This record gives sequence, C-alpha cells and structure tokens, in this order.
Amino acid sequence: MGKFIVILGAQWGDEGKGKIVDFLMHRASAVVRFQGGHNAGHTLVINGKKTILKLIPSGILHPNAQCLIGNGVVLSPNALLEEIAILKQNGVSIENRLHISDACTLILPYHVSLDRAREAAKGDKKIGTTGRGIGPAYEDKVARRAIRFGELFDEKILRNKLEDILHYHNFILTQYHHEEPIALEPLLENLLSIIPQLKPMRADVALLLDEYHRTNKNVIFEGAQGTLLDIDHGTYPYVTSSNTTAGAAAVGSGFGPRYLNTILGIAKAYTTRVGSGPFPTEQNNEVGQHLSKQGNEFGSVTGRPRRCGYLDLVLLKRAIQLNSISGLCITKLDVLDGLKTIKVCTNYRLHGKEYQAPPINTEEWSDIEPIYEELEGWQAPTAHCRSFNELPLQAQQYLLRVEALAGVPIDMISTGSEREDSIILRDPFEG
Ligand code: IMP
Repeated sequence: MGKFIVILGAQWGDEGKGKIVDFLMHRASAVVRFQGGHNAGHTLVINGKKTILKLIPSGILHPNAQCLIGNGVVLSPNALLEEIAILKQNGVSIENRLHISDACTLILPYHVSLDRAREAAKGDKKIGTTGRGIGPAYEDKVARRAIRFGELFDEKILRNKLEDILHYHNFILTQYHHEEPIALEPLLENLLSIIPQLKPMRADVALLLDEYHRTNKNVIFEGAQGTLLDIDHGTYPYVTSSNTTAGAAAVGSGFGPRYLNTILGIAKAYTTRVGSGPFPTEQNNEVGQHLSKQGNEFGSVTGRPRRCGYLDLVLLKRAIQLNSISGLCITKLDVLDGLKTIKVCTNYRLHGKEYQAPPINTEEWSDIEPIYEELEGWQAPTAHCRSFNELPLQAQQYLLRVEALAGVPIDMISTGSEREDSIILRDPFEG
C-alpha cells in the first residue's frame, strides 16, 4: 500500500516543514499543497544553495516528483509565474510536473490592496499579515464571488466576473479606504497574456490523488503556516484565513480523510511567531536574543524579525490533539546549543488556577503565566548530528522529556538546514 503523509506545523508556522517535505520526498511520487497561498515561505538548502518556495510545493527540487496545488490554496497567478521563473533560472523545470486544481480561488491585485489598506487602518490592532491578499481572497471564496483558476480560460466569464467584483471592491477601496481603484482593462489584459503559460497546469487534483492511491504511490500533503494560525483553532483574530490543521489536507485537496496514514507534526525545539497576537512563552530577554540570532529568526517572505520563546507544551499538546498528530519532528535543536538551562512550559496559571489546556478566549491569553520546568542545557554542538546517540546526553534528555510530556513519539529530529542534517527515529512511511 502507498502511504499518504500529512506534514504540518504544530506551532505558529516557520517550523521547518519545507526541509522535511524535501527530505522525505525522494520516497514519494507526489506532493500536494492544500491551503494558504504565497504567504508561506518554505526554505530549502541543498548543497549549500538556498531556495525559498512560497506557493509551489517543496518537492519541486526532486526531478521526478509531481507537484499538486489543491482547491484549498489561494493562488496568485503572477506570484506563481515569478516563482516558476526563479526555479527555471536555477535549472529546475516544472514542465508536466505542476498540476493546479481548477477550483483554486485566485488572489488578484484588489485583494492585495484591500489587505494592506485594512492593516493600515487598524493601526495598533493590526494582525501583522504578510500583505499578500490572503484574507480578502478567502473572504471572496466564502462570499461565493471569487474567480477560480478554471474560470481564467473563458474570456467572457472572466470579463463578466471581473467587472462585477471590481464594481464591489473598488467601492470599498475608494469610498471606505480612500485608496486608488483597480482598473479592469489592464488587469484583464495581464491575465489574458499569461493564460497560455497557465493552461497546461490545469488539473483535476482530486482525481490525480485517487489515482495515486489506487496505484499504491506515496504522497505527501504539505501544510503551510501552523496550527496556531488556523482560522478556527488558532489565536483568533491573530491568525491566517485558512484551516491549517490536518482536516484541511483532505478538504483542501479533494482526498477522503480515511486514507491518510501519518500526521507528522513539525515543531521547533523552541517557539517563534511572526506578526501580532498572544505568545505566552515569549522571551524578551537574552534568551530570546540567543534564539533569534542562532536560529536566524527572520521571516522568509517578509523579512520581519520573528518573536522567540521557550517550547510551550500546553500548545504543542493542543496541536497534537487538534491534528491527531501521530509523531513529531523536532527541528532546529542546534539553536539551543550553548544555553546553560532550557525551560519548557508544562502548564498555564490563569487567575490563580492551573490549566493544562489554553483558554479558548484569546483575550485571556495576555494574563497567562506559563509554569516552566527547567532542564539542563548542553555545551557540545548538536548541529549536523546524524544519529540520536551522537547527541550530547543533555540534548537526548531534553528530547526524551519533551516526548514524555507531549505524549506522542518523536519520529524525526532536524539538526541543520541541509537535507542530511536529519535523524530518523521512526520512519514516517512505516506509520
Ligand atoms: P496572512 O496569512 O498574510 O493573512 O497573515 C496572518 C498571520 O499569519 C500573520 O500573523 C502572519 O505573520 C502569519 N503568517 C502567515 N503566513 C505565515 C508563515 O508562512 N509563517 C509564519 N507566519 C505566517
């Protein structure tokens, strides 16, 4: 039987999913993105060369991998073509390998204008979005006025829909936000000019996945962002606009959930977050600076510094529960090298009481006092270790304690950005 493996972020994104997808990809036939858009930044380092993918699945660097973009993704045609051009310059061909669902809803320039105008209007209360138009694009989808990928190929439908949508959004842009309107003709002209490049990528992604399943192929579902940015289960309203949790792998690709075999949750050995919103274990001190510096914690899409803090087991356990995570992959362990002691948050104290789960009402999160357990750090490097036994004893103990608190096995450990800097404890394809 082929294996269908979901790889997703168990924190606030940037856990290192791209590297893990790329690392496991040599054993899979296809990889599928099922939510998010080009707000994601998946960094791959192969033979010292860095590639940042935003929209195209992280398997693209494997020449035989089929790359699928499912219906749950919001797709900016221009961002897609820019990414394809960069890949081509680097000798990576997407020909006959990139397949996009007709049901993907598009991100168009008015979504970007709306996203930025809204954030500017919010002032201090801004979400800190990536400014890529993600939220407004998902709103259009739910409001049933979005343009879908498959509608790009009929000029009449495209013109009619664009006219209606611009009529609506330009009113908000000009009258409410006092911004420039988006003109129909140049937008239509741009879309018509790129259609020949996009057309060969049209696909029935659900059908392709069904075929892979029937023919016993391995497939990877690549999540973007992380569990705590999920529109329903995350730190609302400081979240992205899609479901980032495991159920979305099925919905966002058109594949039934019964056949998903493994849910691999990726978590850093500590925690980071970009943008606004609660972060109970944040460290605005020397520890935070150590993590930021050693981990090079700057957003790969926006370049913004990421906020840094200790590993939060309350939130990790919540992510395990929400996603039915079968095993964890702990990344960036080497960033903790050199710290004398390392804390992990095991419980929250709120209004004098102790909790093992986060409050649903995120307004209360600013009152949370994390309760920590302190573990011994290690002074020898873990960077580039290729087996568990090579790790310093204290690092092994740290991982074993995290595993015991999390309640699910650690399947993999990542000790550097290269593919080879990986330790497999339990093969995700055997799950
Ligand atoms: P949006 O997805 O651009 O609407 O941004 C909403 C929130 O999600 C902001 O806090 C962003 O910083 C965050 N976000 C979106 N994409 C990513 C990602 O790939 N990594 C980390 N944070 C992200």
